[in-house]
Parts: sequence; structure tokens; C-alpha cells
Amino acid sequence: MWWENAVFYEIYIASFADSDGDGIGDINGIRKKLPYLKEFGIDALWLTPFYPSPRVDNGYDVSDYCAIDPQYGTLAAFDLLVEEAHQLEMRIIIDVVVNHTSTKHPWFIESASGKEHPKRDWYIWRDQPNNWESFFGGSAWKYDAATDQYYYHSFAEEQADLNWQNQEVKQAVFDVLQFWLGRGVDGFRFDVINNLTVSDQFIDNPVRKDGKQDHCNDVNQPGIKHVLKELNQWIKTVDPSIFTVAEISSDQLARINSYTEDGLFDTAFHFNLGSMEELDLEKLTRDFKEMSRQKKIPTLFFNSHDMSRSWQRLAKENRDIYRLLTVFLLINRGIPFLFQGEEQGVGDYLPQQLADIRDIQAKNKYQEELILRGKSHALIMANQVNRDRSRGMLPWLSNQQSGWIGLAAVNQEAKGILADYQNLIRLQKTEGPFTAIRNIELTGDCLSYQTESLQIILNFGQPIKHSLEGNRKTIFGNGMLSEDGHWVHLPAKACWIGKEQL
Ligand code: GLC
Repeated sequence: MWWENAVFYEIYIASFADSDGDGIGDINGIRKKLPYLKEFGIDALWLTPFYPSPRVDNGYDVSDYCAIDPQYGTLAAFDLLVEEAHQLEMRIIIDVVVNHTSTKHPWFIESASGKEHPKRDWYIWRDQPNNWESFFGGSAWKYDAATDQYYYHSFAEEQADLNWQNQEVKQAVFDVLQFWLGRGVDGFRFDVINNLTVSDQFIDNPVRKDGKQDHCNDVNQPGIKHVLKELNQWIKTVDPSIFTVAEISSDQLARINSYTEDGLFDTAFHFNLGSMEELDLEKLTRDFKEMSRQKKIPTLFFNSHDMSRSWQRLAKENRDIYRLLTVFLLINRGIPFLFQGEEQGVGDYLPQQLADIRDIQAKNKYQEELILRGKSHALIMANQVNRDRSRGMLPWLSNQQSGWIGLAAVNQEAKGILADYQNLIRLQKTEGPFTAIRNIELTGDCLSYQTESLQIILNFGQPIKHSLEGNRKTIFGNGMLSEDGHWVHLPAKACWIGKEQL
């Protein structure tokens, strides 16, 4: 299928490209950047939510699934974007946020209007809360005085969870998907889709010794796979070439993969590698070996709108390490999902005071720490979980303005980094698709593996002499072949890609 050879690019719309000078990215801004994206090798775009929203969680709190937030443009602009992308042979997938809606969504307003309302059961209402905690901190239950019940919100209290036991909810979501398929989208990214509440057991979560909760009863609920299978089957019946990718809130490989089996999603985000806190070569190799054996193609990424950028987090601002990670992403078996700006080595944006923080998770953390330990400590702690870090406005121009958040840090080596991405994507197109990975080995700090035709050596450590398999010529990187062709000498933190000569 088309996605198995595609390079995806995530667009966090508010911070991507601004076309009307208000300092906020918009749909026409994306349209202007299509030639740039095409030129450096992108095949498909993932657009994060652009729907009308009170923006408590910056668009992941949707108040109308079938419209465009006026801040970002119009449906007409969206249609043009799809048309122009398709003309350039690029595809578009959109974010589907159906674990919850905004509490400003008409569905919720109706549901909250009275216990007898036909939509009451579209959300999760209970007389008493249990101990479940929200992923953004605090109880996951909010008391509604008007009807004397609590509603469930696994994220912010302004994001009420839909009740996936209710058949009408499911049908309403199918209608939404149909609406966007009718406008030509090529696939869907399903937000926190293993969080859907499909069971009515409401068993308390166990609390660990450190006081943290094990979210074992509020996610991955019994029966969820059945619902998700129906969802995927419905989509594939409409058209088997529609791509589905699941966001599974887990960094456990087995858990993530379990959502790609038996007629479930085409793939899922592999946070086991994607969200590593720091570069751990042993873990990377271990998981990579397992991923190379799995039947369904994995995703590969080191960045997204929910975490610190890999320029800081993994590469520690080292250009050579960054290049090695890029090779791993692009010359491999897996669907690469790049995040806007990573192709120019853009760095984190770090707010310096509470007033500059936009991310709800960081705001909540700030308030929690403020009570315990005071202002400066609260800022440090908040920034540790602050998702604003990757959401800085992209610095396209030297006088770039931002109307809603600070600017992402410019990388002095942006041009060279972009050239790497471009060259590696070209290499992937000429030598790939890579469907079988073998001989994965970690020797000290040197990771090596082979595709059908290539041998890849990523030396994260000191200079090394590495043996070669077969008769190879250098096609990327800097290594010196020995005269007999059996060895390659790599400097510290360097990579080498050799192609088999027939
Ligand atoms: C996903 C999104 C994140 C959002 C959350 C709740 O994890 O990536 O940005 O806050 O879902 O919708």
C-alpha cells in the first residue's frame, strides 16, 4: 500500500506557516509551503486538529468536527489544500479526536442539559466518581451541579470523554469520517485511541508506592479492540487505500503492536523509540530487532508536537549525532513521520514565565508545584513537561513574528541538515523500499544493519574499524574503505552507507 513507502510530515498548524500576518499558522500558509515540502521529498502530510475549538488543549478539544476554525481558514481553503497537494502527488491525513469532545461541543451541551436528554448517554455520567486521574493532573471527574452528577474527562475538564458503548456515538463518528473522506482526505490519525471508554466496570486504578496511579482500568479496556476493529472495517469498506494510524498512549512495544493486529490499524506510533528521554543505544537496538521481525510495518519518528525536540532531547545539539538519527529514520524499514522543522534542526522554545506558557499540561504542573515549592521551581518543573517546547513558531524568515507563542530556536546548520534529509530521502526512493532488515548489531556504540542492498553503519562513539559484508562502494557518509574492501574506518560520530556491487 502507498503508505509503506511514504515519508510523512506532521504539521502543527498554528506554528507552521502564517499567510495573513497575524503570527498564527493557517491553511493558506500550508498551501504556500507545498512546493518546499515536495522538493525535499515529502509524500504525505498529517495535519493536527484545525477544527473549531475553544483551544484549551490547542485544538484537541473539538467543538465542531465538520468545520474549520476561522483562525486557520475556511473549508474552501481546505479543499484547495487537498486539491493542490494531490496535484503534487502528496497525500493528506487528518487528526481524529474522538476519545473526547470539547465541553462546548453541541453534543455535550445537549448531554449536560438534563438526565433525560436523548444524548445524556453520549458521555459518561456517574452519581459518584471513582479514583481515576486525568492525564493532565487531578481527578478525571467533574461535578455538574445542575444535574447532580459527575462527567468523566481523561484529559482537561473541558474535554469530556465520549461513551463508546453508545451505538449512536459510533454512527456520529462514522458520519464525521465520511464528511472528510468526501473532501478527499487520504487517511486518519486517531488520537489517544486506546483510551476510549467502552466498559462500564469503573474499577479503581491501583496506586503505586510513589503515589502515582497505574492507569490499568481506564485505558485498554476490555472490549476496546472489538470497537476499533469495527471502526477500521468500516473505513476499509469505504476504500481499502485509506490509511489509519493509531496513537496508542503507551511506550511498550507489545502494547503498541497489539493495536495493529487482526484487522485493526494499518500501523501505530512507536513511542517506544519515538519518545525516549535520551539516546539509549541498547534499548534502541533491542526494540529495533523486535520491530524488524514484526509483520506490520512500524512507524519511525523522534519528534512530535507532544515532546521536546530531538535536536535537544536525543542529539544534545550535536550535529553529527543528529545526522546518525536521520539516517536511522530514513534508511530503514518503517514509515518515517517527520515533525515540522526537524528537517532544519529547529530547537526547543522554552517559556521564561507563566504568562508565556500555552500548554495546559505545563500550566497545571506549574500550579501544582507553585503550592509546594514556589515560583522559580514551578517554572523549571513545568518546563520539564511543557509541550510548548516543540510548538514554537517555525522561524522561516529572520523577521518572523509569532502571534501566539515564542519562536522555535534557529539552527545555524539548518541548510546542511536540510540537505541531509533531502539526500537521504532521495536515497530511500532510489534504493528502497527496504522490506527486510538483517544483521542488526550493536558493537560498543556502533550500530550496524543491512537492508536488501545496503549496509548501514552508525557510529555513535569513538573512531572504529568495521567489517564489511560483500563487495561495497560508499554511497553516503564518511568512512574510508580499506584497500582489500573488507573494512571501513569511521571517524567518531560518523555514518557510512555502502551499496553492494554486483
Ligand atoms: C494526544 C495529542 C495531544 C493531546 C491529547 C489529548 O496525545 O497528541 O496533543 O493533548 O491527545 O487529546
